[in-house]
Amino acid sequence: MTSDPNWTPSSSTEDDQRRAAIVASLPPADQDTPLLAELRVDASRRIQLSGRVFPRPDRTRVMTIANQKGGVGKTTTTVNLAAALAKGGLNVLVIDNDPQGNASTALGIDHRAGVPSVYDILVDGAPMEGTVAPAAGVDNLWCVPATIDLSGAEIELVSMVARETRLRNALHAYLQQRVERGEARIDYVLVDCPPSLGLLTVNAFVVADEVLIPIQCEYYALEGLSQLLKSIELIQAHLNPGLHVSTILLTMYDGRTNLAQQVAQEVRDHFPSKTLDATIPRSVRVSEAPSYGQTVMTYDPSSSGALAYLEAARELADRGVSGTAQKEGE
Ligand SMILES: Nc1ncnc2c1ncn2[C@@H]1O[C@H](COP(=O)(O)OP(=O)(O)OP(=O)(O)O)[C@@H](O)[C@H]1O
Ligand SMILES: [Mg+2]
Repeated sequence: MTSDPNWTPSSSTEDDQRRAAIVASLPPADQDTPLLAELRVDASRRIQLSGRVFPRPDRTRVMTIANQKGGVGKTTTTVNLAAALAKGGLNVLVIDNDPQGNASTALGIDHRAGVPSVYDILVDGAPMEGTVAPAAGVDNLWCVPATIDLSGAEIELVSMVARETRLRNALHAYLQQRVERGEARIDYVLVDCPPSLGLLTVNAFVVADEVLIPIQCEYYALEGLSQLLKSIELIQAHLNPGLHVSTILLTMYDGRTNLAQQVAQEVRDHFPSKTLDATIPRSVRVSEAPSYGQTVMTYDPSSSGALAYLEAARELADRGVSGTAQKEGE
């Protein structure tokens, strides 16, 4: 294992073999030593993941993180996946499209009222360029913040022309400008949504190609999902034919409870190819990180939560190039 974040493998097979050999050299652990077994699992995940460079998608992937259910881990997933992809060497832009501004907080971005934000884009038609700010402590990661001003946007947008396509137009113009100026292409755009299916979420569905749905592993997890899928179908039919649910991520998983295991199984049965193998555990470190204006990827990079998000990001990036993220008939 290397501690140099800029280290790149000479060839992926050679690199995989090297990592496998290090994992094989770890001391054995069995059922009688559960703590050691857990440490061993985390150590081997660290060896498998650290310093890995993720593959670049053929074109910018725009993903909206949505679930109208509150508190299921949308924002936590948005910021941590974004930071994990950026750590994997990719260029990532987060659009905080939720008036709560939680994604902006977690990325250490100033989002007091009046700061140029997604509100200016949606309501005043401002160019995105003037709103993009670099995230604290992570290279290649930027954010369009949300301020409290956005809480009025839902109503202000109602009477506006092209109210559903404002975010898409602004993003396309910004991505194009970057290319024209010879700046690095953005590989991933992740859009965080509020817990509702109003005009803000509609804008997020219209700007995206893919939807990622975080599902919390608890009772009622699947309730409301059909409403979400129906809304996505409506957007497909009328505003964005290319939109599809590409990814489902199980969050706040506590493997010690039967309930979490049952919910996870049920989700996997419903969406076998969309559900990522990586599952995000319930972890105190994940929930603490935002109060330090950080993601868990910098707050405690070796914690199980950070490793899980790194695993999820790797899977997402691998699927992005192998075509698994394409539309399927699930
Ligand atoms: N893996 C986790 N382990 C522990 N706590 C978590 C985890 N993921 C999220 N949380 C906590 O759960 C709460 C809800 O998470 P989050 O804000 O990401 O959900 P959300 O879907 O964005 O909520 P909202 O619908 O309000 O936007 C937060 O307090 C967060 O810190
Ligand atoms: Mg949120």
